[in-house]
Amino acid sequence: MNDHDTATGATDGERIAVIGSGYVGLTLAACLAHLGHQVACTDRSEARVERLSAGDVPIVEDGLTAVVREGLDRGRLAFLTDNGRAVAASDIVFLCLPTPHGADGQADLSFVLTVADEIGPHLRRGAIVITKSTVPVGTAALVATALGRDDVHVVSNPEFLAEGTAVHDCLHPDRIVIGADSEPVARRVADLYGPEGAARAVLTDIASAELIKYASNAYLATRLTFVNAMAELCERVGADIGSVTAGMGLDHRIGASFLHAGPGWGGSCFPKDTRALVHTADAFGCDLAVVKAAIASNAEHTTRIVDKVAAALDGSVSGRRIALWGLTFKAGTDDRRESPAMVIAQGLIELGASVHAYDPTVAPGTVEGIEVHASPMDAAAGASVLVVATEWPEFATVDLAELGTVMAGGAVMDARRMLDPTAVADQGLVYLGLGTGHTQRAAALAV
Ligand code: UGA
Repeated sequence: MNDHDTATGATDGERIAVIGSGYVGLTLAACLAHLGHQVACTDRSEARVERLSAGDVPIVEDGLTAVVREGLDRGRLAFLTDNGRAVAASDIVFLCLPTPHGADGQADLSFVLTVADEIGPHLRRGAIVITKSTVPVGTAALVATALGRDDVHVVSNPEFLAEGTAVHDCLHPDRIVIGADSEPVARRVADLYGPEGAARAVLTDIASAELIKYASNAYLATRLTFVNAMAELCERVGADIGSVTAGMGLDHRIGASFLHAGPGWGGSCFPKDTRALVHTADAFGCDLAVVKAAIASNAEHTTRIVDKVAAALDGSVSGRRIALWGLTFKAGTDDRRESPAMVIAQGLIELGASVHAYDPTVAPGTVEGIEVHASPMDAAAGASVLVVATEWPEFATVDLAELGTVMAGGAVMDARRMLDPTAVADQGLVYLGLGTGHTQRAAALAV
């Protein structure tokens, strides 16, 4: 019995097509192959298919290259451009296509529905078509119509992968949510995920499954907005958000995860999904005031960081050199979509600052007006203020004495709360923290 057999407890897997090889589709395809299934993963880009077929993974995602190569080596994973061919050879089809936000925040379903229309005639009788992308309530019904087949099943099985931990999340899920009209079909989908996933399956109706995904992301985003609002209050009253959230998290009803104050939430999911949920609610006559407030408050929170940098420089950053450590929306990914770091950089550039950045996933050069350097120290050299915007672990262990030397005075806005305030101050730098009482007092010092 090989590793796959151990993982699945079975020797035969299902024949599966995964349509779309973005971070969700690619991770899912590689993990399903790891679990013992025969997987054909498609992408419309020939260049991407060629790279992936050679085991060259074009995104930064921990452990992904290893599972992709394992699938290729064992002949359980193949990449191709032809959706029709992939589904004709499969009993299970996952749709892992982008759902960008269109006008008014509404999720744009054109990729999903165009592919459904395309693959309909090629599906095997009895095939199970699964929407994996985050799609609004009612999408499964639209997919069924676009497929134009009454002899196949449409199921909602939303993804809960977080970038940076996607492979781990896929192989060790908190839950597998499955919305289906038929219990045997739902069970067959649950079994795809091996014994661990199947044991954590939540079987429900399709509309509930579709909503669980949005409700989870909107809840987490709102929770972070609450934490960041408390961080702001901590600064005013002289408290420390780290102590406050540590105390809150000990309440088992609250829990300790996802309470870390930062520069605001971003990425390809929370901003898009909160807007889409608000849009759906509005369309059904329901005013989701709490989520609307979280969206607005998150934007203000990020802007306030720009204001704090300006305040540290007597109100104006014009003509000043500002350093930024981190450009991605969080560590462990090369994704800069709706990244608070990028929002801060653009805010500073608009006010006339020259922004010099370092990010381990971005090559030196100019990116959207930001001068990107090869090392944190090169970016920080001569800067009036350094903003720590992404929590890359290497920033926690930088040589602060060297930082003090290259900056030669100035301030550090530690928006990820990674540095030791006293150690920073010991280098003659003003520590501007986030959610910590001495921030305001420190800011009063001239930089
Ligand atoms: C999020 C969800 O966590 C996944 O469950 C979901 O599947 C995914 O969206 C999706 O819909 O595809 P992701 O966007 O990769 O995953 O990122 P998160 O780790 O959730 O972080 C989101 C934002 O919150 C980041 O900007 C991060 O820096 C911020 N964050 C997170 C904090 O500021 N503090 C925290 O304690 C945690």
